[in-house]
Amino acid sequence: MASDSLTIVDNRTGKQYELPIHYGTFPLYGASIRGADLKKIKISDDDFGLMSYDPAFLNSASCQSGITFIDGERGILRYRGYPIEQLAEQSNYMEVAYLLMNGELPTKTQYDDWVHGITHHSIVHENMKEVFHGFHYDAHPMPMLISTLAALSAFYPASRNVMDPDVRKLQIYRLLGKVTTLAAMAYRHTKGLPYVMPDNDLSYVGNFMNMLWRMAECRYTPNPTLEKALDVLFILHADHEQNCSTNTMRIVASAESDPYCAAAAAAAALYGPLHGGANEAVLKMLRQIGSMDKVPQFIKDVKDRKAMLMGFGHRVYKNYDPRAKVIKRLAEEVFEVTGKNPLIELAVELERIALQDDYFVSRKLFPNVDFYSGIIYEAMGMPSEYFTVVFAVPRMCGWLAQWQEMILDAEQKIARPRQVYTGVAIRDYEPIEKRRAR
Ligand code: SDX
Repeated sequence: MASDSLTIVDNRTGKQYELPIHYGTFPLYGASIRGADLKKIKISDDDFGLMSYDPAFLNSASCQSGITFIDGERGILRYRGYPIEQLAEQSNYMEVAYLLMNGELPTKTQYDDWVHGITHHSIVHENMKEVFHGFHYDAHPMPMLISTLAALSAFYPASRNVMDPDVRKLQIYRLLGKVTTLAAMAYRHTKGLPYVMPDNDLSYVGNFMNMLWRMAECRYTPNPTLEKALDVLFILHADHEQNCSTNTMRIVASAESDPYCAAAAAAAALYGPLHGGANEAVLKMLRQIGSMDKVPQFIKDVKDRKAMLMGFGHRVYKNYDPRAKVIKRLAEEVFEVTGKNPLIELAVELERIALQDDYFVSRKLFPNVDFYSGIIYEAMGMPSEYFTVVFAVPRMCGWLAQWQEMILDAEQKIARPRQVYTGVAIRDYEPIEKRRAR
């Protein structure tokens, strides 16, 4: 009997099965059995075989991936093997996007080609303005971003040929280039401001700031501290393995849908308050709490299940989210330029009290990436409805890297989970006049 195997005895039949155990890079992280191997376990020949029932994928791996590694117990996050702290400190978002997509950091030539390709695909078709004009003045910017990402599919019908590597490369450039433009258009639409087209001489993040905030000046010059801070935030948000939106990207794209529609679906998943929408919800929560003296009562409400501490807890991290640590430090640098956002003190106090409280300690609930990010965005001048958009923009490279990896993975097929049917077994149809209300 192989030592790297699992022996299962089916007590219904007394039969014994040996299932191989597979490993990823780390033997203690990612040991798995193949779900399909369970099908062998049957009570009779016409039995479908055993399945694993795992609502919300609490303990199921849906893919093998070489992009992002998280050790949630120890609070570790690495992109392609590089610790997130090193990338945040020493790299920049464009380089990180290349790394996620291609597996290695770029040479100077590769970097220049990459940036050129993205920069020169950032303008959107004039008709896109008409799409925006269709939205009400107070539309939430996330549905605007989601809709216009999907609308790109209508502008680029050739993008459906997802099996062609050149087609994929072009759509990757377009999506990375245009996501900042669409995101900025959504912002300007809500403000009633004219759209600003990209400035190719600025950095990726500097140009995003230009499209958000340029007014009457001939040339927009981003504040270097804020540009750097936003770039670091982009690095921290770039990918996070199989989170809800990335899984959505993979699932939609597994049907060979084009990447625009798949990215729109991913952004729709991100919009939810339990996922990327939490950054907006954190600010709402902090405002509702309002002052330091209300913090203990709010914590009590959370423990009584009358409220939720938004920006806390994570499916994978059972320790401090390493991104939240970097963001908390970054806030101080941003405040040097913008002035202090008074909500930071409330957030720090909430964290202090929560991390001493058995409710949070016993459930291993720590601040996640969304706890402090909104406080920075607000200090920069963004409204809270816009925060999830600023999450979606840098996550685009993660979605695309995971999409590309899925397409190239020979084991992947259309995503199609099984179910455990619990409905009525069978019954006869009754004409409407004979039916009773049930
Ligand atoms: C992101 O997956 C990713 O990687 C996502 C992300 C990324 O980069 O892509 O990291 C980005 O989405 C961050 C998460 C943002 N969401 C929030 O901040 C919303 C608040 N957090 C929770 O809703 C929750 O912690 C989740 C959704 C993040 C995780 O949910 P799980 O893994 O399903 O855990 P759970 O809801 O089953 O919670 C376990 C226990 C429960 O208590 P019991 O019923 O077992 O007694 O912890 C409690 C929960 O009630 N709990 C909380 C809580 N989070 C969990 N209680 C109060 N406040 C919270 N925030």
